[in-house]
Amino acid sequence: TEPALIRNFCIIAHIDHGKSTLADRMLQLTGVVEQRQMRAQYLDRMDIERERGITIKSQAVRMPWASDGTPHVLNMIDTPGHVDFTYEVSRSLAACEGCILLVDAAQGIEAQTLANLYLAMENDLTIIPVLNKIDLPAAQPDKFAAELAHLIGCDPDDVLRVSAKTGDGVPELLDEVIRQVPAPVGDADAPARAMIFDSVYDAYRGVVTYVKVVDGRLGRRERIQMMSTGATHELLEIGVNSPEMTPSDGIAVGEVGYLITGVKDVRQSKVGDTVTWQRNGATEPLGGYKDPRPMVFSGLYPIDGSDYPALRDALEKLQLNDAALVYEPETSVALGFGFRVGFLGLLHLEVIRERLEREFGLDLIATAPNVVYQVTMEDGSEHTVTNPSEFPVGKIAEVREPVVRATLIAPTEFIGAIMELCQARRGAMQGMDYLSEERVELRYTLPLAEIVFDFFDALKSKTRGYASLDYEPTGEQAAALVKVDILLHGDKVDAFSAIVHKDKAYAYGVKMAGKLRELIPRQQFEVPIQAAIGSRVIARETVRAIRKDVLSKCYGGDISRKRKLLEKQKEGKKRMKMVGRVEVPQEAFIAALSSD
Ligand code: GTP
Repeated sequence: TEPALIRNFCIIAHIDHGKSTLADRMLQLTGVVEQRQMRAQYLDRMDIERERGITIKSQAVRMPWASDGTPHVLNMIDTPGHVDFTYEVSRSLAACEGCILLVDAAQGIEAQTLANLYLAMENDLTIIPVLNKIDLPAAQPDKFAAELAHLIGCDPDDVLRVSAKTGDGVPELLDEVIRQVPAPVGDADAPARAMIFDSVYDAYRGVVTYVKVVDGRLGRRERIQMMSTGATHELLEIGVNSPEMTPSDGIAVGEVGYLITGVKDVRQSKVGDTVTWQRNGATEPLGGYKDPRPMVFSGLYPIDGSDYPALRDALEKLQLNDAALVYEPETSVALGFGFRVGFLGLLHLEVIRERLEREFGLDLIATAPNVVYQVTMEDGSEHTVTNPSEFPVGKIAEVREPVVRATLIAPTEFIGAIMELCQARRGAMQGMDYLSEERVELRYTLPLAEIVFDFFDALKSKTRGYASLDYEPTGEQAAALVKVDILLHGDKVDAFSAIVHKDKAYAYGVKMAGKLRELIPRQQFEVPIQAAIGSRVIARETVRAIRKDVLSKCYGGDISRKRKLLEKQKEGKKRMKMVGRVEVPQEAFIAALSSD
């Protein structure tokens, strides 16, 4: 297809504002998906996504649409909807020339909409503002059209009004996409350059890579090269999704499609990378490539130690489809054999953990998530700490932690509560804007570590669920951070070591020591539980001793009964972990690690 007849666009929207419903309606109106095949949310492929209503992976669909009698090709590129996937979102946006900014006419703009809108603006996309759900009795289209117009600097009359549910206004919206979104431009005679905006592992086909061709053309059977790694492959198949994969001879300037090269691991076909020809290929890659960098780490341990190989296999499988997932084996005194796993963020962590439990049937314990710290020692050496128990000992010059730029949107009555929360979490206010008389946008920089730790829950409860939050990493800052260890009878319990701000160290120590005192059964001897920074004890609790001699119940005589009891006791010990001399049931660790 001529570039002049192509329109590449995406939909950006807050969760539940109706992106999937609108996408489905478009597929149906353009005849790409027949009514009878239509199932709700055609584009969300994974069950877990459908159940949780979140879109994790993006995908592209080609739809025919004639405007003023001229047939055009619309490529709708689906963007992932959550903060953790900012980079994937930015690559999906970079593949488009325009976007539909979809806002629920009963809700108005939310933080996530704003964050993605800013990304779209950075990518110079044409923005079509649209209010959805105008069929709802609670819809206030005039009010929110004014809000949207104010935000993007257009006339309120230019804000389109649709109902993705009934289809009302959707054909007009497709016409507007053709009218307003610029056609892609590129050099048809230059060596091929295509940007990878998604890469998905398929059990039958291997990795399916989604690209937008910027220059030249990619054809079937050609040899291609990944510009970031130099790896070369043969194009076994190339084509477009409409909505199922449809092979073709090739795709050219401005077109969006998929490639199959037979690779089995998405890390060999990375989002953001540039694909070119192996021979006479391009010399300059397209801009914007970044390696995915895990931001949050957690230790994952099988509750049943014999599940360790199954956990390793499961992680290996998940990694085939997730270039951002990293892991390495780790041993913990308290939890046994497991893995330290790196994630893009909290949602990513949650999704992976849930998939491990649900799809692979594993029961897991996770240690409290932590961010990555950079530590400079006085002797000049540098350490990257992904596990608090590996925090370096010795003379530390500086500790740096990642910070994020957070956007919060809420009704004005919650301004005080949000400021209080952000202050308590070491936030620094960057600005505040009224979106309307009742709604305000607050901008903060916050340490990522403070968000990782139950920030969402605190925000929700302080704003009765009315606030929305979005954030993106912006770099790092030096902070007065210390490692707090928890000791049982003088021995460190590695899984409970935490890196916290020095002003919060005492509170953390008291809380953990108190929790463990409740959970650890009495032993034959007194067990002190201490929280310490280095050798300095900051909190202490004690589990009193008991004399519990099972054999004393046996009145001396009956040997077989005695043996039985010993047997029983041994059984019970299997699930016990030894920390130094102290026996702790694994359940105690699980309970102490679960947030309260
Ligand atoms: P995520 O996939 O979680 O980002 O959500 P989404 O933005 O894709 O929202 P989705 O399409 O799943 O719609 C959310 C809810 O709003 C669903 O219950 C839809 O049925 C409903 N909905 C979507 N569009 C309309 C509409 O135009 N009118 C009404 N009344 N309901 C709608």
